[in-house]
Amino acid sequence: MIVKSLHFENYRNLNDNSIVPADNVNVIYGENANGKTNLIEAIWLFCGGHSFRGSKDSELINFDKSFFRLKMDFFAQDRDQTAEIIFDKSKKLIKINEVEKNSSSYLTEIFSAVVFSPEHLSLIKQGPNVRRRFLDAAICQHRIRYASLLAQYNRIINQRNALLKDILKNRELKETLSIWDDSLSIVGAQIIYERFGYIRQLRASSKAYHSGISGEKEELDISCICTAKAEENDSVEVIRDKLRNAFYSSRHEDYHTGYTSVGPHRDDFDIKINGISARRFASQGQQRSAVLSMKLSEADLLYRKNGERPVILLDDVLSELDNKRQDFLLNKVEDYQVFVTCCEESNKEQLQRGKVFYVKYLHLGKDTSIEINNIVGIFDMDTSTVSKHTREFLRVCEKENRIVNVSYELPKSYILYDFSGEYSVYLSPLNSATLLKRMAD
Ligand SMILES: Nc1ncnc2c1ncn2[C@@H]1O[C@H](COP(=O)(O)OP(=O)(O)OP(=O)(O)O)[C@@H](O)[C@H]1O
Ligand SMILES: [Mg+2]
Repeated sequence: MIVKSLHFENYRNLNDNSIVPADNVNVIYGENANGKTNLIEAIWLFCGGHSFRGSKDSELINFDKSFFRLKMDFFAQDRDQTAEIIFDKSKKLIKINEVEKNSSSYLTEIFSAVVFSPEHLSLIKQGPNVRRRFLDAAICQHRIRYASLLAQYNRIINQRNALLKDILKNRELKETLSIWDDSLSIVGAQIIYERFGYIRQLRASSKAYHSGISGEKEELDISCICTAKAEENDSVEVIRDKLRNAFYSSRHEDYHTGYTSVGPHRDDFDIKINGISARRFASQGQQRSAVLSMKLSEADLLYRKNGERPVILLDDVLSELDNKRQDFLLNKVEDYQVFVTCCEESNKEQLQRGKVFYVKYLHLGKDTSIEINNIVGIFDMDTSTVSKHTREFLRVCEKENRIVNVSYELPKSYILYDFSGEYSVYLSPLNSATLLKRMAD
């Protein structure tokens, strides 16, 4: 899967513009708050219509505008395709290959990506529920049936927990608990079995990535922590019996708490580097490397399943990594199209192939910033130097509504701006020398 071009309009702080990425590695470089993450997020939106930052659709529209529009040309399933997302505060319009679709979920069938953002470090740093969510989300992409297993399990566990609370008041109800235990062990065993299978594959692949990132100095190991004491090689039937026994043995504790203390809803997986717990002992760079290895493996597993390589989006991964680890990410992740954001100028020089995109804006006045890459020229409005030809040009622009005045006072300069092939003019209260100095800073 390759993004061939991306056009964005009013998407957060990204003004009307397009990028044409390289098929391999793309470094999106710029200062803080320039819009690097926004760019990555715009690509991710084509995976299903939602932000990976959990933002609402209305938050994605530029503060001063009433809609956003994203259009992507990409290569997938052996052909060139296009997808478009337009959101105007009340309605989201999805078009795939020029055909309107009534749901964003159609996007998941045609485009896929794997994203790493610093928040994913919570996979190591935080509690088991974060890891279970990661695992469940990843398996759902592989097995459609898995989501309904989870829903079924949650429904039964809620009923069992409600019964446990009733038992506190009426002990005779104890008899009925085994009915729930039976159905819970049947569904729960299938969940555990699927998780074991996914972890087995993830372990092998992430071990290889982590070894590469760390220059073969570190070994990453991922293993399941199963509260029912089932083991990876167990069959579904054996897991079911162990789970049922676990429910039985924990009954006394459960009667007191009114909560089911064992089962897949309490399971976890352990991440170790060189045999010791990554959460408790690994350095920042080691933790980052481990999560990255898992994310890259997620991409490998998707490729194995779909025969199509997802696009890899790496937001802010390079900080805290030493040169060798950065070099691995920039130059050794083969066969995938990768987008990496960074703030360090040195990172773009490390890149041996691919493209660098510089995201930088120039502030003109009245809260208006425009993308530096698209500025054609900056000229003073001093009438003595404005030629007849220029005055004529400005008159035409005015007639065609292509002049944006960002000045409360008399404008001192005008900026010629290329909006994907069409010129616009901005009138600024600042003179050209000040603007050019800002651009150079
Ligand atoms: N709906 C919106 N309209 C306009 N601007 C927005 C909107 N949403 C976010 N922004 C702004 O976009 C800017 C860029 O955000 P982004 O997260 O992409 O920065 P970044 O380049 O990734 O920075 P960093 O290096 O700090 O991660 C922020 O200043 C943010 O306030
Ligand atoms: Mg960012």
